[in-house]
Formats: sequence, structure tokens, C-alpha cells
Amino acid sequence: MANEVVDPGRRRFLTAATAVVGGVGIVSAAVPFIKSWEPSARAMAAGAPVTQSLKKIELGQQLIVGWRSLPVFIVNRTPAQLAALPGQDPRLVDPKSQVDQQPKYAQNEARSIKPEWLVMIGICTHLGCVPTYVGEMKPEPFDPNWQGGYYCPCHHSRYDMAGRVYQGVPAPKNMEIPPYHYIDDMTIQIGVDPKGAA
Ligand code: FES
Repeated sequence: MANEVVDPGRRRFLTAATAVVGGVGIVSAAVPFIKSWEPSARAMAAGAPVTQSLKKIELGQQLIVGWRSLPVFIVNRTPAQLAALPGQDPRLVDPKSQVDQQPKYAQNEARSIKPEWLVMIGICTHLGCVPTYVGEMKPEPFDPNWQGGYYCPCHHSRYDMAGRVYQGVPAPKNMEIPPYHYIDDMTIQIGVDPKGAA
């Protein structure tokens, strides 16, 4: 388990890495200001829904929470990150999210209920590593035209800020969007669809 705070210029990106322990697995995210877990780790391991406040996740930040022993990435996407999404389409394997990797209500450009909030299972669709959040829009060694997204350190797969996989990498599919809904404007529950959703 590790925390990493990167401060590239004015924007602050924070990544809380996770640890998956044992066969059943307990995933923990250690962000100092988010102390409470709901429900308990035992309930999470059993597959219970997980409720998470979004209030303290700053613009451009990612928080990782555990659900069913999986890391779930929650990102407060910046307007610039969102604006860059449509331009990525020609470089992606499945730009319209036609493969069944998300609920119907997240089958849109941002792959989310509210565009600014990405909620996604942080597991690479190649062989299951946890991709690294690389949120800054600047040239990277693995992509001179990088517009923010995810880089998998295991075999170099790349995903955009909606978890859509780029062409020419080993991962075959977009990262998965879990069922979730909003309890109120700034609280989500992971593991339960919105009322009335198929
Ligand atoms: S597990 Fe991510 S590229 Fe292989």
C-alpha cells in the first residue's frame, strides 16, 4: 500500500494505491482525509455495496476504493480532460463502448452517469494488473500526444480518461465500469444500479 502525491505545477494529483490481500482479499485505500469505510471490510469482501462521498476528491484527483476485492477508481475529471475525450476516438479500439464493459447508463463518451466523475474498476483487461493514473496532459515517454489516462506498467497498455483502450496495445477491451448510482449529489454507492435502470 502506498500513497503518492504529485504536484506538477499548479494542479495536484493524488493517487492512493491499493493493496489486495489474500484470496478473499481486502482492498484498502489510504487517503488521510477519508477515514471511514462503509460498509466494513468484511462486508465488502462479501460483495456488499460500497458508499463513498466525493466531497474531498479535488479536481484532477483520483481516489481508489475497494469493492468486491477490486480497486475502483474514482476520478474528478477536469474540463480539459473531458474536452480531450472525443479527439481520442480514432486511436481507440472501442470508442463507442460497444463491447459490454459498462452498464447501459454509462455507455456514453465519458462512460459515466455524470461526465465529471469517472467510476471504474481499475483492472487492466489484458492480464489484470492495476493501471497507473497519469492524469496530466503532456508528452509522456509512452505517448508524445498524451491527453491523460491510464498506463499499465505490466505490458504497456494505455487507456484514455474514460478507461477506453488505445489501439496497438495488448489489452483487448476498455476497463470495466461497475454498477453504481448517486445517493445524493456528492455521494455514490458502488454495486447498485440507479433505480429503474435495466
Ligand atoms: S496486464 Fe496490463 S498490459 Fe498486461
